[in-house]
Amino acid sequence: MEYRHLGRSGLRVSEIAYGNWITHGSQIEEEAAIACVHAALDVGISTFDTADAYAAGRAEEILGRALSGVRRETVEIATKVYWPRGEGPNNSGLSRKHIREGIDDSLRRLGTDYVDLYQAHRYDYDTPLQETMRAFDDLVRAGKVLYIGVSEWRAEQIADSLRIAAELGLDRIVSNQPQYNMLWRVIEPEIVPLCEKEGIGQVCFSPIAQGVLTGKYKPGAPLPAGSRATDEASGARFISRWMRDDVLTAAQGLITLAAQAGLSPSQLALAWVLQNPNVSAAIAGGSRPEQVRDNAEAAGIRLESDLMRQIDDVLEGVINRDPAEAVSPASRPS
Ligand SMILES: NC(=O)c1ccc[n+]([C@@H]2O[C@H](COP(=O)([O-])OP(=O)(O)OC[C@H]3O[C@@H](n4cnc5c(N)ncnc54)[C@H](OP(=O)(O)O)[C@@H]3O)[C@@H](O)[C@H]2O)c1
Repeated sequence: MEYRHLGRSGLRVSEIAYGNWITHGSQIEEEAAIACVHAALDVGISTFDTADAYAAGRAEEILGRALSGVRRETVEIATKVYWPRGEGPNNSGLSRKHIREGIDDSLRRLGTDYVDLYQAHRYDYDTPLQETMRAFDDLVRAGKVLYIGVSEWRAEQIADSLRIAAELGLDRIVSNQPQYNMLWRVIEPEIVPLCEKEGIGQVCFSPIAQGVLTGKYKPGAPLPAGSRATDEASGARFISRWMRDDVLTAAQGLITLAAQAGLSPSQLALAWVLQNPNVSAAIAGGSRPEQVRDNAEAAGIRLESDLMRQIDDVLEGVINRDPAEAVSPASRPS
């Protein structure tokens, strides 16, 4: 494994992180979930990403159980707050009340007394940004959170948060967690240049486009057994955005390019994300330990510029680069 700094902070994270959205507490049994976490630890993955809302809190609980007995200083745990956690007018968003209550619930489920990275899971248009930044800063001062970050914020929202932190002497964010993969490059025009200048690292989600960039979904063919696209509970709904013939056909071309480079398609997809120097980590998901081991080998791989061009050629017409696509709900979800 290779490790990078989280933005310009002192914290180092593994280039390949492991995330448990859709899988833990939902698509796969706990035994398989724990086997994936142990496989990750065995290959040097030290960074684990979850969220309070994943599987209604069960994902945090399972990650906590999977990491029990592991020396706390050897792992970095990242979680998030924003999406609804049950009923009530204050059970979502980034108000001081929900942040304060959210962290305590997450720490209890994770079985730890601090998280390394606490992330605003979206931008909350219904809470003054100053209130959110002060609430996060309080958690840092209380030692419950070591670093703060955001997810899917726009460049101007990140810039506003940095301005407020500087004006008020508050802890500043060190990371953004956007969707970023060969097909979805919307952070490149605005967010990456700002974050490079400000020392904020990208911790990228869905780097394999939920499995689509492995080429395992063939246009017109039956879905592979046990894959996310067959998971009626939630996976099928989320991956449906990519289950289009043009995308699946283009992804077939990546299988050949990966083989020519001596990589698995998944490793090619992850290595592509890691070529961007503003990326601190690619958070790969995985439903089986062998996937986790396959993905970990993408760390440290350098892709030649020729290959990067061939990837663009193969995917021409299905790549999205529109910065307006980095969106948060217009009002706080309930
Ligand atoms: N901040 C946010 O809003 C947000 C949103 C989404 C995700 N995330 C974070 O990012 C993490 C990763 O997201 P993701 O799960 O969508 O990422 P991903 O790595 O693009 O997709 C993971 C899925 O692809 C398949 N896969 C992975 N490795 C494979 C391999 N080597 N060969 C074949 N198939 C493979 C597996 O699905 P099957 O085996 O089921 O086919 C796996 O569950 C999440 O767990 C979460 O921590 C954050």
